[in-house]
Amino acid sequence: MRSSILFLAAALARFTQAVTPLTLKDNSAGFFANDEEFFLVGVGYQPGGPVELNQGVDPLSDLTGCQRDVYLLQQLGVNTIRTYAVNSTLNHDDCMSLFAAAGIYVVVDVNAPGWQYSVNRAEPWTSYSPLYMTNVFSVMEQFSPYPNVLGFFSGNELANDPKSINVTAPYMRAIQRDMRQYQQSRKLREVPIGYSTADVVDFRQDLGFYLSCTDTDQGQSDFYGINSYEWCGTTTFEKSGYENLTDLMSAVQMPIFFSEYGCNEVLPRTFGDADAIYSSQMNDVFSGGIVYEYNQEVNNFGLVDVDPKTGNAKILPDYVTLREVYSKVKLPTGNTARKISRPACSSVFPKIKSFTPTLAVPQVSGIASLIKNGVKVTPGKLVNVDLNLSGHKWTITDVSGNTIQNPTITAVSTWNQVPSEAEASGASQTSKNAAPSAKMDGGHGMFVFAIAGITTLSMMIGGLLVV
Ligand SMILES: *[C@@H]1O[C@H](CO)[C@@H](O)[C@H](O)[C@H]1NC(C)=O
Ligand SMILES: *[C@@H]1O[C@H](CO)[C@@H](O)[C@H](O)[C@H]1NC(C)=O
Ligand SMILES: *[C@@H]1O[C@H](CO)[C@@H](O)[C@H](O)[C@H]1NC(C)=O
Ligand SMILES: *[C@@H]1O[C@H](CO)[C@@H](O)[C@H](O)[C@H]1NC(C)=O
Repeated sequence: MRSSILFLAAALARFTQAVTPLTLKDNSAGFFANDEEFFLVGVGYQPGGPVELNQGVDPLSDLTGCQRDVYLLQQLGVNTIRTYAVNSTLNHDDCMSLFAAAGIYVVVDVNAPGWQYSVNRAEPWTSYSPLYMTNVFSVMEQFSPYPNVLGFFSGNELANDPKSINVTAPYMRAIQRDMRQYQQSRKLREVPIGYSTADVVDFRQDLGFYLSCTDTDQGQSDFYGINSYEWCGTTTFEKSGYENLTDLMSAVQMPIFFSEYGCNEVLPRTFGDADAIYSSQMNDVFSGGIVYEYNQEVNNFGLVDVDPKTGNAKILPDYVTLREVYSKVKLPTGNTARKISRPACSSVFPKIKSFTPTLAVPQVSGIASLIKNGVKVTPGKLVNVDLNLSGHKWTITDVSGNTIQNPTITAVSTWNQVPSEAEASGASQTSKNAAPSAKMDGGHGMFVFAIAGITTLSMMIGGLLVV
């Protein structure tokens, strides 16, 4: 009898696969894969840092780099990355397909460095224009077809102090309104649209109220991300400020997650914040979070140090610690999301103290025709990707300086099927050099399959197209 295992071993080398697109539910503060609530177990991913994207490359356009990083991210146990800037003139099909195959979702910021691609927080009216919105729409048009796009950030820390909140808030709603209109007019997949705020004590809750409320302007956020660095070193839920933050956010009527966290004031990091975020003290308010950040840059938050010349990667101690913490996280199963009810802006605005709330500024001339006619960009699509990394030019070394042999990306059919060490490594991998386990808890009905692994019914129905 022909061995189905051998057949799969050969066939799995190239394939396309779709993870389940995440959706929102009315009245629930969460993201859902079918009926299962999804928690972001994420890292920020912008290798090279915030440099201008006119050199023909961005984080999701370089297949060789993505192969290395998808391997490392999968071993780390993440199910989400956040990108800060992409260039829609580039092709992202290979990298996005690779991330999809590994069960990793992407939150995409629609802004980019450069005056015409981002908003001037002091004078937002000088930025909000058809030129600016053309780039925003281009990113949406290109990325919406990928099933593993979790959401779009309409902005990141546009308001960063009590002064900028008053002037920028109506532009946040305006940009989100235009994005929503574009999505509807172009019949794009309804990828959730949200905003990523700085953790400014004066307005973090008020801005949540402001962005969650509904009115005729259609400028509300679908979700709210908060960049918080309150938990530093060894601290507690109460002392860190997380208890206060959780209390404040529990009143905000939309899904919320940490769009950045991981204070590095005390090194090495121990990631007690990750433990807290997924614990029952916080997981009904927060849908998880995104640790800042994958790559080592001058600000010293890196989990991995990639040499831009050779492409070689060195695993840093924080990676090992975070993997250990992630491996012990126990997520709630089913739908435990908190119930929410979107308030009307007319009921919310009188209660906002930290700025003068007004609805979205009016759409400027020229944007309506972009919404009607669409922008010219190649829409993304999933392609067959090669999970066999044996031809790679880069090397990965662990914290002791040993080279990792035969790194292998494992296909998973849904987000919570993160491979355990043995399966992820493949039978041929020498365990001495294998990256340690990246498994999430088994409480999700986790199963894994791998090139040398077993086949199951779920594998066949998991959206896998063997090519
Ligand atoms: C994308 O790359 C092109 C070509 O280099 C450049 O003209 C454009 O400004 C870039 N877009 C962004 C958003 O950086
Ligand atoms: C939490 O909020 C209370 C009341 O505003 C305040 O007194 C306390 O200092 C806050 N705790 C932290 C750790 O910020
Ligand atoms: C805040 O913005 C509103 C609406 O644009 C304006 O009426 C008000 O004067 C501003 N307040 C401050 C303190 O700048
Ligand atoms: C991966 O590719 C190498 C050489 O290209 C080949 O020798 C090896 O058998 C492949 N592995 C699998 C699992 O297909």
